[in-house]
Amino acid sequence: MNRTLLSIRELSVRYSTPDGIVPAVNDFSLDLQAGECVGIVGESGAGKSQSFLAVMGLLPGNATVGGTATLGSESLLGCGIDALNRLRGARIAMIFQDPMTSLTPHMRVGEQIAESLVLHKGLSQTDAMARALDLLQQVQVTDARRRLHQYPHELSGGMRQRVMIAVALACDPEVLIADEPTTALDVTVQAQILSLLAELKRERRMGLVLVTHDLGVVAGVADRVLVMYGGRVVESGAVGEMLVSPRHPYTRALLRSMPRIDDDRTAPLTAIPGQPPSPAKLPSGCAFHPRCAGADAACRDQLPAMLEGRTRAACHHPEGAS
Ligand SMILES: Nc1ncnc2c1ncn2[C@@H]1O[C@H](COP(=O)(O)OP(=O)(O)OP(=O)(O)O)[C@@H](O)[C@H]1O
Ligand SMILES: [Mg+2]
Repeated sequence: MNRTLLSIRELSVRYSTPDGIVPAVNDFSLDLQAGECVGIVGESGAGKSQSFLAVMGLLPGNATVGGTATLGSESLLGCGIDALNRLRGARIAMIFQDPMTSLTPHMRVGEQIAESLVLHKGLSQTDAMARALDLLQQVQVTDARRRLHQYPHELSGGMRQRVMIAVALACDPEVLIADEPTTALDVTVQAQILSLLAELKRERRMGLVLVTHDLGVVAGVADRVLVMYGGRVVESGAVGEMLVSPRHPYTRALLRSMPRIDDDRTAPLTAIPGQPPSPAKLPSGCAFHPRCAGADAACRDQLPAMLEGRTRAACHHPEGAS
């Protein structure tokens, strides 16, 4: 049974800069179901973070946002700061690569978790602290009772990341957006945090958005994957299809450039030639064409439409086309 939690339609983000308008995100749409994890993948500058910062109302003043984003029956875009503050933290939460950007340095861990429970759920300080302890245990923070009274700088990077997840989950949000939550961590801790997120998602039937530049990270956790390039979704589909037989040349190149633990392929790793484009200077037509071996005149001139198939791919010559 599907239940759509978050629905994003034709989202766009444009920046006004001294050099002109920069289209950071174009025509981004996503329906996130309860209990589903969608991975958002792409190189630096692809527009991954901007898309979700827009949904959370966290963009700077020189950004203009278009399209719609709804959480159940509530509109997230242009709903006003009071309505947004009621939804953020309570029904939709976001975590980031560096926990120190979201944790308050001079506040004890327990108080930071309890704060939103007092604010959004009206719990007493005592009940909120008891719940904070529960949450620390749920996110598998060792020695949780002692940690309640520690400051963020007293914890390791992995423990801080777990605390940030506990803060985000305190009010039982329907949707959690995790933006590169494991990039700064070593491989073992990275795997532990990912399996924790997957488990929490399953237990709570939460919708999880996992933003990463690493297709390997989504492999074990995501149900669906959206690949972004130059501010647009270029391919989307079920994780199995996307990892085994992607149709867009960019997704195929990403796969070839990525080491995999379960790798039984004999093909060598190949880096994608060239650099991802800056949204301020996007190539004409398909933005990937300068780096694509199969590009022709159509690719240089026309923006490809999204073609249905095993996956949805925005390419003039997708793999598997007749
Ligand atoms: N304040 C800003 N002013 C102008 N342009 C901006 C601003 N913030 C972001 N952008 C543009 O938006 C583009 C997309 O940024 P975004 O942070 O979404 O990339 P990303 O896919 O999350 O990359 P990364 O993997 O590096 O986090 C940037 O390359 C930049 O050109
Ligand atoms: Mg980012």
